[in-house]
Amino acid sequence: MKKFLLAAFVACISLVACQGEKSNVVKIGVSMPTKSLQRWNQDGANMKAQLEKAGYTVDLQYAGDNDIPTQVNQIENMIEGKCKALVIAAIDGSSLTEALKSAKEKNIPVISYDRLIMNSDAVSYYATFDNYKVGTMQGQYLIDKLGLAGGAGPFNIECFTGDAADNNVNFFFGGAMDTLRPYLDSGKLVVLSGQTEKAQCATENWSNQKSQERMENLITTYGYAPGGTKLDAVLCSNDSTANGVTTALLAAGYTKDNIPIITGQDCDIPSVKNLIAGVQSMSVFKDTRTLATKVVEMVESIMKGSTPDINDTGTYNNGTGVIPSYLCTPVIVTIDNYKETLFDSGYYKPEQIQ
Ligand code: BGC
Repeated sequence: MKKFLLAAFVACISLVACQGEKSNVVKIGVSMPTKSLQRWNQDGANMKAQLEKAGYTVDLQYAGDNDIPTQVNQIENMIEGKCKALVIAAIDGSSLTEALKSAKEKNIPVISYDRLIMNSDAVSYYATFDNYKVGTMQGQYLIDKLGLAGGAGPFNIECFTGDAADNNVNFFFGGAMDTLRPYLDSGKLVVLSGQTEKAQCATENWSNQKSQERMENLITTYGYAPGGTKLDAVLCSNDSTANGVTTALLAAGYTKDNIPIITGQDCDIPSVKNLIAGVQSMSVFKDTRTLATKVVEMVESIMKGSTPDINDTGTYNNGTGVIPSYLCTPVIVTIDNYKETLFDSGYYKPEQIQ
């Protein structure tokens, strides 16, 4: 009898364990590049919250501070750890080819998040914002503000973009430079440093420290200063690079009354403060909640075996072919609309921008 009870107990336990395993929720791996920039913390938190709400468990990892081997290692662990899909914002678009081979072998779908993963046929879908449009918005903003279309100029400008290994840079910088090109060619925009190529304007890891250093060098070399050589505008691909540039210019004596027009992207808190203080002119808002929602929808469609909603099948070739993409819409933010765009939408609480 005792033996029978014991056997029944063991059977019961294994049944429960089995059922436990069966009813185990599906695990999704989310790999983010860094904790050091505001946006990726928000992206990671949004993705985790929304995936959990949809009933998944989430293995969310940040690759230290943009450490490529850490990201590779974390992704390998996600694959070994039986994640059923991977959502990845790559540090270096081309560094994941090897790691993702085994995802492909194991039929684990990979969604490229915000930044395109290059040279890997394991990438199933890509969700991002319209990155070329971000660049054209920045370029057009400068054209409008300077009155270039009405014949004003010449104006002095310097250009800053992000990490050369981030595929988005080709689109941000490409879009901005394509828009500014006619004025650069006609001499209405003058880059005294002559630095207009991506490699010359790139900022390693999008670091504000690095962009500050480069701006300081430009100030020293070309004598940009209030009362010195006039600097009218600085194209910056995002807020972290803009912040470094702003810091360097303020330290050189510029104030809100004479600081060059500076562009940005992300509406990071320090940049929103700078918009209000009049020392950054614009930013581009990319609602990371929308991107996360889109990616969660993609995950759900893939898990159900259906085709995710995509709206671009021509733009993003990662070297193995065009990756079907969903592009969310970016919005220009200035002093005139930051309240509606950022506060009324619930993206920030006003007290966060004190
Ligand atoms: C993102 C930008 C961000 C930058 C630095 C880019 O890939 O699209 O929103 O500012 O990385 O983190």
